[in-house]
Amino acid sequence: MALASISLILIISQFLLQIIKIDAKVSSIIVFGDSSVDSGNNNFIPTVAKSNFRPYGRDFDGGKATGRFSNGRVPTDFISEAFGLKKNIPAYLDPSYTIQDFATGVCFASAGTGYDNITSKVLSVIPLWKELEYYKEYQSRLEEYLGNQKTSEILSEALYIISIGTNDFLENYYVLPHRQSQFSIEEYQNYLAGIARNFITQIYELKARKISLTGLPPMGCLPLERTTNLAFGGNCIDRYNRVAINFNQKLQALVESLNKELSGLQLVLSSPYTILYDIIQNPYFYGFEYSATACCGTGRFEMGYLCDQHNPFTCSDADRYVFWDSFHPTEKTNGILANYAVKTTLAVFQ
Ligand SMILES: *[C@@H]1O[C@H](CO)[C@@H](O)[C@H](O)[C@H]1NC(C)=O
Repeated sequence: MALASISLILIISQFLLQIIKIDAKVSSIIVFGDSSVDSGNNNFIPTVAKSNFRPYGRDFDGGKATGRFSNGRVPTDFISEAFGLKKNIPAYLDPSYTIQDFATGVCFASAGTGYDNITSKVLSVIPLWKELEYYKEYQSRLEEYLGNQKTSEILSEALYIISIGTNDFLENYYVLPHRQSQFSIEEYQNYLAGIARNFITQIYELKARKISLTGLPPMGCLPLERTTNLAFGGNCIDRYNRVAINFNQKLQALVESLNKELSGLQLVLSSPYTILYDIIQNPYFYGFEYSATACCGTGRFEMGYLCDQHNPFTCSDADRYVFWDSFHPTEKTNGILANYAVKTTLAVFQ
């Protein structure tokens, strides 16, 4: 009798374990991209695109300036937490983390980078192809640590998030002559979409199956761009917003075509455009007061080293602002964007 009930318990617990396994959300979050998701890789390379000093990170755990371009966490941190994984995704180049830490989440992103190799050269940051090289290195380190079978499982059940592209337009195409002399804006978008296609195909060949490609934000409404538009009342630059909308449509077409082409691929486009534009137009509705200027400094142009702790104009409560510095959202905004993605496009992965 006792023996029978023990074996029944064993059978039931085996059954539950199996259900839990089938029901498991993603195994890990693996991040590629730029400052929208960089969790500190640029701290370890020689570039001026850094943010590992106050007031950056002042609302992060322990007030630590980790190299995230915000007063706190970035969207991928919130997404990781929402999937029941770690609260913050560690930067791959940070030597204080081990391969064990990276097994459930790792970030290869680098602030200032883009799809285009030339973009990464502007601020000497990590080009996208190099982020991929780091991912390959990571894959072999993980195999050494967990064996091929387990690594293969983790990598094919991980959620890959790619968040990049704004810098190709705002740091490169619209300010430097080279690409403009070579490509019309339409051609340049196609060029970038081609790089995105290659990149996704490459990570697919390296086991990625669940992938979220992030669209462009309403980049004409970033406070820095509004500052260049002061002659027109500091309004959003429509031309840049139209490019963002157009590029996101190209990415959507790319997503549909790759899903047909690559078997077993689950690729989605998570576009922050609509929700962020709505926040910027109706800040009060989301609990904000300011969306045209940022918290740091005068809120019009400061970011990176210009956003320093001695700037007397920096706001005291970042939660009242949509933007933290002239180019990057506050932690509060990042949380809203992440939640929105989790409830919409990322819901298929839960
Ligand atoms: C970017 O540079 C890398 C390394 O030199 C090269 O392999 C790659 O083909 C380049 N990408 C494009 C789109 O030109």
